[in-house]
Amino acid sequence: MKIITQPADLPGFLKNFSAPRILVPTMGALHEGHLTLVRHARQLAGDSGCVILTLFVNPTQFDRPEDLKRYPRTLENDIHLCESHGVDVVFAPEPGSMYQPDHSVSVVESALSHPLCGATRPGHFDGVCTIVLKLFNLTQPDTAVFGKKDYQQLAVIRRMTRDLNVPVHIEGVETIREPNGLAMSSRNTRLTPKQHADAPRIRRALLAAHSAHENGETSAQTLLEIARQEIMATREGAEIDYLELLDADSLQAIDPVTAPAIIATAVFYDTVRLIDNMELTG
Ligand code: PAF
Repeated sequence: MKIITQPADLPGFLKNFSAPRILVPTMGALHEGHLTLVRHARQLAGDSGCVILTLFVNPTQFDRPEDLKRYPRTLENDIHLCESHGVDVVFAPEPGSMYQPDHSVSVVESALSHPLCGATRPGHFDGVCTIVLKLFNLTQPDTAVFGKKDYQQLAVIRRMTRDLNVPVHIEGVETIREPNGLAMSSRNTRLTPKQHADAPRIRRALLAAHSAHENGETSAQTLLEIARQEIMATREGAEIDYLELLDADSLQAIDPVTAPAIIATAVFYDTVRLIDNMELTG
C-alpha cells in the first residue's frame, strides 16, 4: 500500500494499476461503516484494479469551527486499517496542499442542498461538492463509493455528477449500525457513555414512523410526531436539529406520504451532532 500526501504525486503512481479505479472518499477516523465501503470497493476493483481511500478532514464543509477542531483524527490507526483491508493507495493531503490561500472557485448545488443539513449548516454542501469534485479530478476514478447514512450528501453528489457531466459512477452503500441500532459515525466516539446508550433512540424513532407508515398512516405530520416523541423522551438532553419527511428524489416536503420518501433527522447531544434516515416506500 502506498501513502501519498502530495496531489502532484497521484497521477504517476496511479498509472501502475489496471482499471477499474475505485475511490472511497473519507475524513478519516475510520470505523466499520468505512470498512464496509472499502470491502465493497475492493470487490468492485477485483484483483488488478485499484482502491484509493482519501483521508482528508475538509475544512470548507464545516460551518462550526469547534466541530472542525474536535473532529477525531486517528491517522496512524486509519493507515493500519487501510493496509489490512486491501486499500492500494491512501491519499492523505495537508489542507495547504488542497486549497490555495486565495482559492475562489467552488461548486454550488442549489436545490437538493437546501433542506436538512443544508438548512442548518450553511455552506456545508458547497464544501462537500467542491472537495469531492477536486478528489474526482485528482484520482479520476471509474466509481466512487459513499455511505447511505448521509442520504442527502449522496443525492447532492449524484446531482453534481449528472449536471456537470462528471464521468464517475456513484455507488451508495447501506448504513452500518452498532448492535443497538445506532448508525456508525466517527462522531460516536465523542459521546459520553450515557449519551451513547441513549442515542439508539434516533433509530427507534425512525423505525416507529416507518412502522406506522407500513400500517397505513400517510400523514407526514403524524409520522413526524411519532418520531419526535421518541427522540424527546431522552433523559440525556438530546435536541432535534431537524426532523423532516421529504420526497426521496426531489427532497421537497411531502404530505401525504404516497410516493417514496425519506424521514431524516439530525440530533445534538451537547456539541455532538448525529444524523440518520430511513426510506419509506410510497
Ligand atoms: O462523508 C464524508 O466523510 C465527507 O463529506 C466527504 C465525502 C469525504 C467529503 O469530505
